[in-house]
Amino acid sequence: MTAARKERQAPPLAVRSATLRFGGVTALDDVSIEVREDELLAIIGPNGAGKTSFLNVTAGFYRPQQGCVELIGQDVTGLRVDQIARRGLARTFQGTHLFGG
Ligand SMILES: Nc1ncnc2c1ncn2[C@@H]1O[C@H](COP(=O)(O)OP(=O)(O)O)[C@@H](O)[C@H]1O
Ligand SMILES: [Mg+2]
Repeated sequence: MTAARKERQAPPLAVRSATLRFGGVTALDDVSIEVREDELLAIIGPNGAGKTSFLNVTAGFYRPQQGCVELIGQDVTGLRVDQIARRGLARTFQGTHLFGG
């Protein structure tokens, strides 16, 4: 399959088999998702389930020990947050507040 064809068929966002550990704590254990065009996906789970860790891996704040993040079929795992943002993926934060100044 050509790269252009692969890109046309690829979902806008995919996370494949992401595993993230903090020392002995496994925050994400082989997690995969695909988000298709025009799809809205919600992630729910109890406190400590790994929702924030998952978003941080997806947006590049954390690098998973295993697995990858793909934007339109391109592997962006390990890119800086700003490089990922330039490719169109950004996250918002749960705790919002004004700058001190
Ligand atoms: N920066 C961190 N250092 C160490 N452990 C963390 C860190 N962030 C999250 N964890 C641990 O990873 C697990 C998942 O946490 P988190 O992603 O914050 O869950 P959620 O957002 O679903 O409440 C928890 O056990 C949490 O204590
Ligand atoms: Mg959270």
